[in-house]
Amino acid sequence: MPTDSSDARAVGEAVDPTRLEHDLALLATLGARDDGGVARLALDANDIRARLWLAEQAESLGASASVDAIGNVFLDLPGRDPTLAPVVTGSHLDSQPAGGRYDGALGVLAGLEALRALRDAGLSLRRPLSLVSWTNEEGARFAPGTSGSAVFCGVRDLNETRAIRDAAGTSLGSALDECLAALDAAGIPRRPLATPMHAFLELHIEQGPILEQARVPVGVVEGIQGVSWFEVTVTGSANHAGTTPRALRRDALEGACALAASLREAARDDADQVRFTIGTFEVSPGAVNTIPERVTFSIDLRHPDPATLDALTASFQLLAGQSWAGCQATLTPLSRIAPVAFSLPLVTLLDDTAHDLSLAAPRLMSGAFHDAIHLAGHCPTAMLFVPCHNGLSHHPDEYTELDDAVAGTRLLAASLARLCA
Ligand code: GLV
Ligand code: MN
Ligand code: MN
Ligand code: MN
Repeated sequence: MPTDSSDARAVGEAVDPTRLEHDLALLATLGARDDGGVARLALDANDIRARLWLAEQAESLGASASVDAIGNVFLDLPGRDPTLAPVVTGSHLDSQPAGGRYDGALGVLAGLEALRALRDAGLSLRRPLSLVSWTNEEGARFAPGTSGSAVFCGVRDLNETRAIRDAAGTSLGSALDECLAALDAAGIPRRPLATPMHAFLELHIEQGPILEQARVPVGVVEGIQGVSWFEVTVTGSANHAGTTPRALRRDALEGACALAASLREAARDDADQVRFTIGTFEVSPGAVNTIPERVTFSIDLRHPDPATLDALTASFQLLAGQSWAGCQATLTPLSRIAPVAFSLPLVTLLDDTAHDLSLAAPRLMSGAFHDAIHLAGHCPTAMLFVPCHNGLSHHPDEYTELDDAVAGTRLLAASLARLCA
């Protein structure tokens, strides 16, 4: 029997703002920075503590905790029919080095509070319900990110992922083994990867300005735009800065600046939909009085339409093939994640549940990528966004009003109840 509107409202009302606020404050102490932000890098001591804390919450919920080979921690709540695949919600507990309290953490804590609200509302679930915290979403310590969800879904290989090293030379695998040993010592059993799921819902802060500007407490996410990463290298010749006349100079920085400006111009669109970012720029050998021999820079390119991403990639390649201040350039694709459209039935269920809870919840696309981008290939998936102040994220000042976090959690809890009914 599907959960009716009054059940959905009862579950929503069972969400307790005080518990959610308490958990947000508690988690923010693990990796707390002096400026109020959080540094809880993937698989560091604080990230491990956060996972142990999460696993400890299972008992009071009547759930069981377990961990898979890539360190994803699950809390499983049984349903009346154990043969059914579970409905799953969650996000990530790792942060950026100068991160905020909400990115990822809110999705895990909202899921935890949703499980408590379901218990307190006394609703009997037909389907099992699980909460998950995915490993290394950020990629700030071990790049690329979304390791836990990508390995779980079979998008990336476990051993290749274990071989990734951080800046200090520590492999993800050895940091993961420390994490798994801590969870083993706490008696948390292992579980397999790639287990079937009925549906996945992730709540996250928007990390952009749309919902705050629209003055709404929550948004229903229809999909995630595609993202391509490239590395560009421009090669000239090093020589003496003081003695080399213009005709003999092949200055890689001069070439790189001209190429970067042309790439940016090629990406400019009237609709302001293309997102083009050069986030790293390295000059070599990097001496005041030596003409730069080589410049390497990154490109992060995003758009909701795969054809536009491909057309821009082709025009970038043509530009890179030209001579820039007498220098050669190469453009190497590093990764491409195709845009994802979330499950329409699931998006519609979120719309309908928001309506039943009298919550204004417009639809929007995600500009950032999330673990849900991989889950969308594994099971019907959708996301909820809550506003964040000034659209600020990956920053210690990241802030979401408690009322908005609670509204999002109410919608999450009521939607999970429907999916499990
Ligand atoms: C992930 O946070 C991204 O870069 O979108
Ligand atoms: Mn995140
Ligand atoms: Mn992030
Ligand atoms: Mn992210």
